[in-house]
Amino acid sequence: MDNKFYITTPIYYVNGSPHLGHAYTTVVADVLARAHKLRGKEVFLSVGTDEHGLKIQQKAQEAGKGPQEFADEIAGQFKELWDKLGIEYNSFVRTTSPRHVKAVQDALQILFDQGAIYKGTYKGLYCVGCEQFLHEKDLVEGKCPDHGLEPEVVEEESYLLKMTDKQAELIKKIESRKFHILPERYEKEILSFLRSQKLEDVSISRKNVAWGIPLPFDEKHTTYVWVDAFLNYLTTLGWGASTGSGQVLEMWPADVQLIGKDILRVHATIWPILLMYLGMELPKKLVVHGHILSGGKKMSKTLGNVILVDELLEKFGVDGTRYLLLSAGTFGEDVDMTMERLVEKYNADLANGLGNLVSRVVKLNESLKVEIGGSEAGQSGLDKLTVNYSPDSFLAEIWQKVGQANKKIEEERLWELTKENKTKAKDVLKEILWFLSQTAALLTPVMPETAKKISEILRTNKAEILFPRVK
Ligand code: MSP
Repeated sequence: MDNKFYITTPIYYVNGSPHLGHAYTTVVADVLARAHKLRGKEVFLSVGTDEHGLKIQQKAQEAGKGPQEFADEIAGQFKELWDKLGIEYNSFVRTTSPRHVKAVQDALQILFDQGAIYKGTYKGLYCVGCEQFLHEKDLVEGKCPDHGLEPEVVEEESYLLKMTDKQAELIKKIESRKFHILPERYEKEILSFLRSQKLEDVSISRKNVAWGIPLPFDEKHTTYVWVDAFLNYLTTLGWGASTGSGQVLEMWPADVQLIGKDILRVHATIWPILLMYLGMELPKKLVVHGHILSGGKKMSKTLGNVILVDELLEKFGVDGTRYLLLSAGTFGEDVDMTMERLVEKYNADLANGLGNLVSRVVKLNESLKVEIGGSEAGQSGLDKLTVNYSPDSFLAEIWQKVGQANKKIEEERLWELTKENKTKAKDVLKEILWFLSQTAALLTPVMPETAKKISEILRTNKAEILFPRVK
């Protein structure tokens, strides 16, 4: 299908409630999905939760609950938050759903039958936070730098996935950008990693983790998170052995897979190699973002420095929150958030910027009565979103013009001009009205409700406070 756009978010662990980092990825995905819809594409946005593994098993135990009950509760919280944030997803995958479990077993059997998976032993340093084996050189003062935890030394029988056989092919796909990693610095990072060393085979099963999917060819083992988790991107489309490993699902390959930089390495190695063994095309783009930091550190449930999304929603509303998330920093880089800075930005850009412009224009037009027609988002206006993946510069460009429009009203002394030279005043206002109607159209993917309200206000010329100032 030519006219399709399949976009995925990572599936989030259910070891704790959703936080701002998760909301960031998901809002960006929703904005990209909506922008492609505006461009007439048939869009499929997939989200979900990653529910197996040691970490979740442990958290459930601490909470005095069974793992499924615990997972149900947290998955519910994610769904609720996505509804509050206005995420228009098409599918919510849960890795404990019978359909997913069955499809993962199908995939494992296919891999096993062709010798891509073999039985061995694995000795390594296991970080429960990452649900991954780490190397000595990854550690900082003996601890995982992402989770601040000392990994556990594990030596056990394990099934491993052969990696090196596919390494050369993988490098070629990345170089040719058939599998395009962006922003560019992440592509460089992965290429230099892949060129400098032979990939080690990856452990894909654990023997003593009950909360997982049993291997169909050895029930004593369960897959550990990554193989189970990656396959969600396929199972959500209905993939399974009955659809045939090589069969091209209508929406596959994914057009964009959005991920945080912490899970880039696995998404750029294990995942494409799994797909190659399954005879499936690789995703077209892996779009990588930085982390939202709080107090200079990655926000994470394990670290306990989480900012509550509900607080933002209460203060800034849905569209205000969406705007602030997208504009708080350069896409791809880390963004350090503080409540003070968010309040400042909200007041400057939304209350005093766009909100003020709209209400001034309405007042002026009470006497000038300029008529404007509706407006569609210009095709090229959305390029920064749909082609360049830089939501922050997309918004910065619009807000620069909002600033200019506010300035123009002052420079032209439009209040007085209305009385002195009505024709000229009308021309100036007409230009600003046209800009606002364009802006409303362009903002639709980012701030759907605000966009609607602005169009309505321009049509009826009835004022409404879009963004009340906050303290
Ligand atoms: N379950 C795995 C992903 C499997 S995908 C096949 C996982 N889950 S996670 O809940 O720990 O994090 C998933 C994603 O959440 C990260 O890659 C990132 O996209 C997002 N974030 C988590 N914390 C974040 C921040 N503090 N800031 C921005 N995004 C971060 O990894």
